[in-house]
Amino acid sequence: MKPVIISPSMLSADFANLQRDITTLNNSTAQWLHLDIMDGNFVPNISFGFPVISAMRKHTKKTLDVHLMIEQPERYISDFKQSGADILTVHYEACTHLHRTIQQIKSAGMKAGLSLNPHTPVQLIEAIAADLDLLLIMSVNPGFGGQSFIENTYHKIKKVKEILLKTNSQALIEVDGGVTDKNARQLIDAGADVLVAGSFIFRSENIEQAILQLQNASH
Ligand code: DX5
Ligand code: ZN
Repeated sequence: MKPVIISPSMLSADFANLQRDITTLNNSTAQWLHLDIMDGNFVPNISFGFPVISAMRKHTKKTLDVHLMIEQPERYISDFKQSGADILTVHYEACTHLHRTIQQIKSAGMKAGLSLNPHTPVQLIEAIAADLDLLLIMSVNPGFGGQSFIENTYHKIKKVKEILLKTNSQALIEVDGGVTDKNARQLIDAGADVLVAGSFIFRSENIEQAILQLQNASH
């Protein structure tokens, strides 16, 4: 079994001490950094944009896993590439011409991800699954950190896994929202390849230890 990838959500970092928090993560075993971009339209919250992503890029070599919670994300694909994104994930619910958007992300030189809100049926991904590098299952309603995990997520992961196998898709399965040491093992057992965690990691006394706890959850 491949080791689980941990993607700490920077939404829970201290924005006045970003360089300090990124240095801590650089010294940790976390493989990716998760950046949540919110437009106050697709979700009822606004987070941060291009200058902040570029600033983070200067201080880390880790994979920047950018989660777009914005309407019409196709308008900004090259801007995210220029800011330093490695993976660009768009929401199913925000894309009218999803197939084109996924191809544009790849042509821009990034990995392409697709995210599903908690209420969105997983069957909808069948026609696009083979084109994806990442499938992000939201385990809370997007917009805020620190919410509680939705239990139906385990079932969704198993269904997604079946569809990925059937369509010969190589996409990784990522889970985002309410992830802690309490549910990490069950998520990995269900088929999650990547765990995003914000408040669990940043509210713990020892960030590096909290990341290890999630990584070791499958043992
Ligand atoms: C929610 C974001 C998440 C969030 C996770 O809209 O997509 O990435 O930061 O935070 P926690 O782990 O605190 O639920
Ligand atoms: Zn996210």
